[in-house]
Amino acid sequence: MPGAMQTPTTIASVRALVRDARAEGKRVALVPTMGALHDGHVELVRSALERAEVVIASVFVNPMQFGPHEDLARYPRTPEADTDRLAELGVTAVFMPSVDEMYPEGRSATVVTAGHLGTVLEGRIRPGHFDGVLTVVAKLLSIVQPDVAVFGEKDAQQLFLVRRMVRDLNLPVDVLGVETVREPDGLALSSRNRFLQPGERADALALSRALAAAGAAADRGVEAMLAAAQGVMQDDTGVRLDYLAIVDPRTFTGASDEHHGPVQVLVAARVGTVRLIDNAVFAIP
Ligand code: PAF
Repeated sequence: MPGAMQTPTTIASVRALVRDARAEGKRVALVPTMGALHDGHVELVRSALERAEVVIASVFVNPMQFGPHEDLARYPRTPEADTDRLAELGVTAVFMPSVDEMYPEGRSATVVTAGHLGTVLEGRIRPGHFDGVLTVVAKLLSIVQPDVAVFGEKDAQQLFLVRRMVRDLNLPVDVLGVETVREPDGLALSSRNRFLQPGERADALALSRALAAAGAAADRGVEAMLAAAQGVMQDDTGVRLDYLAIVDPRTFTGASDEHHGPVQVLVAARVGTVRLIDNAVFAIP
């Protein structure tokens, strides 16, 4: 029977907890989240529980990764429900710092920059987003110093950039990506799905349908995959496409029509006021 879940809110208290775990020779996993937890997060936690005796989930809506016109103020916050869910799952601790605790000077003067790949696709639509993500992830990794940190594959560009940061900065942590969890009809779980109105919920299926259409065209190459996915997105008038792209998952740069092997199809769109992203990997024979 696991002990009662701890709820540290300060960096010093979460560090003390990790120090005690290390003294007992335990492995530590970190699951960084922004809360509003859904079944996708549950899979991240389950994967962490399989890999470490001590699992720390962080719940922190990071202002640094939201642009001035983005949804920071309305980003869903459900701290009580999140705490209950994490306790049920058997997490050791939930680290819920305040903005002041993480950014005592209001902002971090030192920033981890994601470089060129942080300015394309999601980064083109959300300038500065990935610098904010990498900076807070670097801070969380430095605070907790976990053996393993777990991220969802739904945020494909984020996962790619976190892995690259860990390599570039020689951070002593294994990064684990966990498969996207979907509703039975294909919609990828997202904390923002709760804002979809009933009609919009049906429109939102265009994203996963576009990925499936691209996958069905994989044996005809990249251009055919793009055309198939674009066809689906154009048919759905309730969806405004931000981007549709096919990248080589090893480099996250555009895959050419001569490409063979794995490709990652990325799609982002607005449905009503809700911005959604999704992706899937297919093999071109
Ligand atoms: O994926 C998220 O929820 C966030 O971008 C993360 C990794 C917790 C950093 O704030």
